[in-house]
Amino acid sequence: MRFDVITLFPEMFSAIKDEGVIARGIKKSLLSIHTWQLRDFSDNKHRNIDDKPYGGGAGMVMQVKPIRDCIRKIKQDTPGTMVIYLSPQGEKLTHDLAKELSELDSIALLCGRYEGVDERVIEHDVDKEVSIGDYVISGGELAAMVLIDTVSRQIPGVLGNQDSLNDSFSNGLLDYPHYSRPEEIDSQAVPAVLLSGHQANINAWRSKQSIKKTEEKRKDLLK
Ligand code: ADE
Repeated sequence: MRFDVITLFPEMFSAIKDEGVIARGIKKSLLSIHTWQLRDFSDNKHRNIDDKPYGGGAGMVMQVKPIRDCIRKIKQDTPGTMVIYLSPQGEKLTHDLAKELSELDSIALLCGRYEGVDERVIEHDVDKEVSIGDYVISGGELAAMVLIDTVSRQIPGVLGNQDSLNDSFSNGLLDYPHYSRPEEIDSQAVPAVLLSGHQANINAWRSKQSIKKTEEKRKDLLK
């Protein structure tokens, strides 16, 4: 899977490129992340890519031309890539959407700043808008990193142990509780079944716990 990221802050992506699951996926050549500095596509010496909104109002708007030129370049290198704009107006990012996106060969992620991008970019250049939740963050970069992380986890081989894919939401439920050593701390004991060595009982207990946790914390998922 190839990710191309269009951003004013390419350095932010070292947070996921250099460490952890994504870094390992890159090392194994299962993933690649290419950042594009949008200012490199500016046509003026100040490297501006934004301007005042028509109709007045606060803030600045990211202009069509640099974004369109950058997308054109990305599509020359990677024809058929899906262009996603991170925005609070987009489709909500869920486990199912991440799984669907993980089946693509390439995704280009457009990260907005300021008041966002000129609407004509959304109409003409963007294939899909994706939101990470019903709140506003200060730019699309963090949202793009969230998307890259959760999509990459779905690519076979990226997680060391494929069992790790069986976490919350993979079967529509929350994950069961986990315990490690010691067996007891401050009078809190590990559930006895987990020490029994009886795998069928352990699996049954985990399934039950998974349903119980979902009922307690996210009843909406059971509908
Ligand atoms: N940019 C600003 N807020 C966002 C959100 N909730 N999701 C995706 N991109 C955003």
